[in-house]
Amino acid sequence: MEIVVSGTRPTGILHLGNYYGAVRNYVRLGEDKNVKGYFFIADYHSLTTHNNPAELKVLVKQTIATYLACGLDPEKVVIYVQSDLPQIPELYLLMNMLAYKGELEKVATFKDKIKIHKENINAGLLTYPVLMAADIIIHRAHKVPVGKDQEQHLEMTRNFAKRFNSRYEVDFFPEPIAYNFGDELVKVPGLDGSTKMSKTGGETNAIFLNEEPESIRKKIMRAKSDGGPTTMNQEKPQEIINLFELMKIVSTPDTLAFFDNAYNNCVIRYGDMKKQLAEDMVNYLTPIRTRINELINNEAYLQRVVSRGAEEARESAAKTISEVRKIMGISYF
Ligand code: TYM
Repeated sequence: MEIVVSGTRPTGILHLGNYYGAVRNYVRLGEDKNVKGYFFIADYHSLTTHNNPAELKVLVKQTIATYLACGLDPEKVVIYVQSDLPQIPELYLLMNMLAYKGELEKVATFKDKIKIHKENINAGLLTYPVLMAADIIIHRAHKVPVGKDQEQHLEMTRNFAKRFNSRYEVDFFPEPIAYNFGDELVKVPGLDGSTKMSKTGGETNAIFLNEEPESIRKKIMRAKSDGGPTTMNQEKPQEIINLFELMKIVSTPDTLAFFDNAYNNCVIRYGDMKKQLAEDMVNYLTPIRTRINELINNEAYLQRVVSRGAEEARESAAKTISEVRKIMGISYF
């Protein structure tokens, strides 16, 4: 059995980038009979930058509903909330002894975050990659479906796993890889000309999975574009690359080819392209939005899913921790 683990921070409703870069692949991997999938809500991770207790409650439930709405099947995979597994913070503490301050300070996400949160450079933020490694190796995972922005974190996870194995002269933790079915990891762009769609990028950057069609249309019609090409086969500027990238996700290859051709021949009308993109986006997301709205108020069901998931995930985590304690000599009598 191949072990697959991945998670999402409940810092806002998930967007197209989360879906296309990650959750869609959780679903695809979950369908594979040779895979044991663990997919969780990374609530501890969200505390490094957000801590609004009332909001957290809502966001965690929304994220569970979104996982299910995207097609994750609790009969096939294990769905749980990170903080329901006490073994994760235990492994995190143990792995912190193997993580160096210097390597943690060099992590790109840490450097970015401390620029934005100058007033809150906490130790949790610095050791974020250690907690993430603990999440992954607690089930001794082989594959981790994530978007491109998580590549460096996975590299660190491999380093920590290797370091543990070599420090204790064991072959205990596999070295997990960031996985996208053999393809490059994905980075879905924003609507504001930026190269990454993100929850914190603001209203004009992201399309959320529960977004109403009218709002999707408005956002796409206002998406950043330029004055249009002036010479044949002109290189596309970033904001236009972004529109084409989004179209590649939600539209047919014929539609994409039609507008690409129009661009290269300088006859493109961005208004038409955006209208088409908006309609295809609405069609792509409508089934997910409908399911989110159906599930979000079914609290009893959401709770059943994650409490059953936590039980199963705890079993796997407890096995790992018991072995780790033995390997490290934390068993005295
Ligand atoms: P998070 O919550 O920021 O994002 C969840 C997943 O969505 C992917 N993603 C994207 N993919 C493509 N294009 C985008 N624009 C885009 N934006 C986000 C992310 O790569 C991620 O796969 N540190 C993680 C959460 C985490 C985790 C883990 C992941 C905690 N522990 C263990 C895997 C394994 C994070 O902040 O993801």
